[in-house]
Amino acid sequence: MTGAPLLRARGLGKTFGTLVALADASVEIRAGEVRSLVGANGAGKSTLIKILTGAIRPTTGEVEIGGEIVETGRPAEMLARGVACIYQHSNLAPAMSVLDNIFLGRQPTRGLGLLDRPRQRREAEALIARYEIDLDLDATVADLPTVKQKEVEIAKALSLDAKILLMDEPTAWLAHEEVANLFRTIRTLKRNGVGIVYISHILDEIFEVCDTVTVLRDGRVVADWNIADITRQQLLQKFIGERLAADAGAHARRSRSARGTGTVKLAVNHLGRKGLFEGIDFEVYAGEIFCITGLIGSKRTELVRSIFGADRFDSGTIVIDGTEVRPRNPADGIGRGVGFVPEDRHRDGLMLKMSVEQNLIMSALGDVTDWGLMRRSRIADMSRAAIADLNILPPEPHKEVAKLSGGNQQKVLIGKWLQIHPDILLLDEPTVGVDVGAKAEIYTILRKLKAEGRAILVVSSDMEEVMTIADRIMVMRSGRMVGIWDADAVTQQEIVAYVGGE
Ligand SMILES: Nc1ncnc2c1ncn2[C@@H]1O[C@H](COP(=O)(O)OP(=O)(O)OP(=O)(O)O)[C@@H](O)[C@H]1O
Ligand SMILES: [Mg+2]
Repeated sequence: MTGAPLLRARGLGKTFGTLVALADASVEIRAGEVRSLVGANGAGKSTLIKILTGAIRPTTGEVEIGGEIVETGRPAEMLARGVACIYQHSNLAPAMSVLDNIFLGRQPTRGLGLLDRPRQRREAEALIARYEIDLDLDATVADLPTVKQKEVEIAKALSLDAKILLMDEPTAWLAHEEVANLFRTIRTLKRNGVGIVYISHILDEIFEVCDTVTVLRDGRVVADWNIADITRQQLLQKFIGERLAADAGAHARRSRSARGTGTVKLAVNHLGRKGLFEGIDFEVYAGEIFCITGLIGSKRTELVRSIFGADRFDSGTIVIDGTEVRPRNPADGIGRGVGFVPEDRHRDGLMLKMSVEQNLIMSALGDVTDWGLMRRSRIADMSRAAIADLNILPPEPHKEVAKLSGGNQQKVLIGKWLQIHPDILLLDEPTVGVDVGAKAEIYTILRKLKAEGRAILVVSSDMEEVMTIADRIMVMRSGRMVGIWDADAVTQQEIVAYVGGE
């Protein structure tokens, strides 16, 4: 990693009104370097990436690529200079083939604007061979697992001759095994001299795949290190502070209460939905945290959606507090004291154009109205308490949710469901995009709910999370249950093996 940097950003600053999202941030990226950007939720990581893609124009500072100062705030200019971005939410055309997606929007033509398909195919084949990406060009994107879709995005970026790839939490929706595949691709890109910026909240990933790290805190660069020179604890302390770093370490295993108070809250008997899952049997007790893990595509999300009433099921029964129920829609679930924090906060969870407060009270409208009149003061109290409990930043109830950082949006989503005080709370990947400090806070809240005798069901692909919070663990594979274990009786390695089907 010697030679002149591919990209140099100097003194970047960005303010939104009075809020300083980024201040005087400088960063350099060299060929073959994987640089991680680390910081708590709201630290300014995505803002920095968006400046480098041209999506937003910085208030101060400049960006130099290949020795030339470039005009900021122009996406086409950044792309032309070889800066591409792999987004967390895919922007591929799902119904089209891999080949078509790679060339989408800029088909090589033969005379008169006719598509030169054979040439496209040759180019794409050469590209995926060079970067050792294992893709079937004729596959339909929608049929591919998430990690392959990420690889299509990478191939697309490379076909545009990208020299710098920006990745904002690329593994947020990937399962354990898929992350290994992505890392393999990253290493090949590195050997080919591509410079990579990698944002993640998962420290293990940073230590595994990155060479250097830029630490952001409150919009400022507070450290710039070689990964080889630092420890996890040093990194944690730098971005969340000493006190929280100690907490984050301390939330490791604690005493378990498998089967909680001994009272079954939720029983699922032989539940099935054609083509998705079948023969699912488990109970969740009052006062326990029951985790369901498995690979992406193991149909855990589909299962919990059916339990909540967001989707139907065709066979089996659901029993809540001893009574069989047939939830037909989410309102049925809510009426029975069931809360559901969905996986996709943008699609199912939040009204992005509405305020933090409006989102927080949305599911709890019954509690804040009197004969249909909104109780202003109650609403304000509720939202203030939720913002404090979950440490939502900035702590402004009237801020539009779209203007919060990713991790803070996730906290609002969880807060929204806590407002209905559910007896049974289903959470699907609740801490995706949440920083390590806030994760520890969410675990504390879940433990508090458990101590109050509520039944908590968490779907999670994050093995560390599962081992940290679960009393019992169920593993699913391809729509079937592999087994259920008391968390005290298994190791993480064993669970990983069950998940992978060994
Ligand atoms: N369009 C916007 N309008 C107002 N404020 C914004 C806007 N976009 C971002 N911000 C604010 O800028 C700050 C930095 O946000 P950014 O998204 O860069 O954080 P991040 O480090 O990516 O956090 P996360 O880990 O949660 O994704 C936050 O306080 C956020 O609320
Ligand atoms: Mg972000």
